[in-house]
Amino acid sequence: MAFAQIVGWGMHVPDKVVGNDAFVKMGLDTSDEWISSRTGIHERRFVENGQPVSDLAVEAAKQALQVADAHPRDLDLVILATCTPDQIMPSTASFVQHRLGADRAGAFDLNAACAGFVYALATGAAQIESGRAKNVMVVGADELSNHLNWQDRTTCVLFGDGAGAVLLRASEEPGIMASTTGSDGSGAGLLEIRGGGTKASSNGNASANGKAVLTMNGPQIFRWATKKLSEAATQVIEESDLTVDQVDLFLPHQANLRIIDSAAKRLGLPREKVFSNVDTYGNTSAASIPIALCEAISQDRVHVGDNMILTSFGSGLSWAALALRWGTPIPSSVARWTPIRLQLETRMAGLRSAIKKRERAVRATIGERLNRDGG
Ligand code: COA
Repeated sequence: MAFAQIVGWGMHVPDKVVGNDAFVKMGLDTSDEWISSRTGIHERRFVENGQPVSDLAVEAAKQALQVADAHPRDLDLVILATCTPDQIMPSTASFVQHRLGADRAGAFDLNAACAGFVYALATGAAQIESGRAKNVMVVGADELSNHLNWQDRTTCVLFGDGAGAVLLRASEEPGIMASTTGSDGSGAGLLEIRGGGTKASSNGNASANGKAVLTMNGPQIFRWATKKLSEAATQVIEESDLTVDQVDLFLPHQANLRIIDSAAKRLGLPREKVFSNVDTYGNTSAASIPIALCEAISQDRVHVGDNMILTSFGSGLSWAALALRWGTPIPSSVARWTPIRLQLETRMAGLRSAIKKRERAVRATIGERLNRDGG
């Protein structure tokens, strides 16, 4: 059986940095002290001017290709974990596949909210392990800033926007060793965005409950998440025949530093084996784990042979965990010509797309003429 290895990685966050004080200035009854002490968050990034989530996803995926020195045409599949797509259809993954120039790849979105990236990683790994794919781009990207109620201090201070991506490749060595995914829909109402779907509208007319803003029962999610994170982590540690002592790095979903600390304590993991960057990005939903992975790598906290545990949780309620052994040497720099080659390939993809569109339009016109003349 083939294993799935992470061979490339990348992240992209918007330029706009928003500190905790910005919420006070907006007139919200909150403070930097409350937000940072209760959540660990100091700042987050928000997109501006309606920038679509596909923009962030494409940049992260391009970096992952660069690190792996891979061609977009090598990709068999693009899986984009997101709960904030560009539009209802087509899938945002299709935009990403197209803009990367990944002409051979299938593409689909996967929505497991904040747990989405680990779900997508497990799904991509299964495609590789079954022999159906050799190279899978897995992206986690979200822009929850589009769905926040700026008058609700219990939610709007918690989230940020961003994207992260990894390239999975078939390998003889593990790789991803074990994964688990779970869902408990009885808790759906604890964290949700009600609007935007078929429940909230009919024949294009938005109904009263169609507001696409996030609502959450924070304390209940908090209690459930600390328990679920450690349970799911324990399961994949056991299934990969590891002991807790053999875990080198714990990369949990970055929602709240107190949740992370409490889960690590339950697992018996010392602080130095736990990665957190929730202070600088807040909760970026499906992007949080791949962004954390990229930053852990850049801080020299990931080495060949390391055992790593990734755990996530979110709306659904849904959760996922995954154990992997890191197998890719960290390149000190990207080959000089790789970005140039990728830029050229992206331009070529744009050109191919323009030609295809033109071709389609010409064919449609000829078809219409023939029909008219025939009729
Ligand atoms: N600023 C100031 N006060 C705030 C506040 C804010 N931003 N948000 C909530 N409060 C207030 C509450 O209104 C409450 O006031 P009250 O006692 O007068 O009613 C008080 O702080 C305590 O609220 P509580 O909800 O019990 O605080 P908490 O310690 O549980 O922290 C969360 C709230 C949301 C930070 C915490 O519950 C949490 O992180 N939950 C998990 C959320 C999460 O991770 N969601 C994403 C999942 S993917």
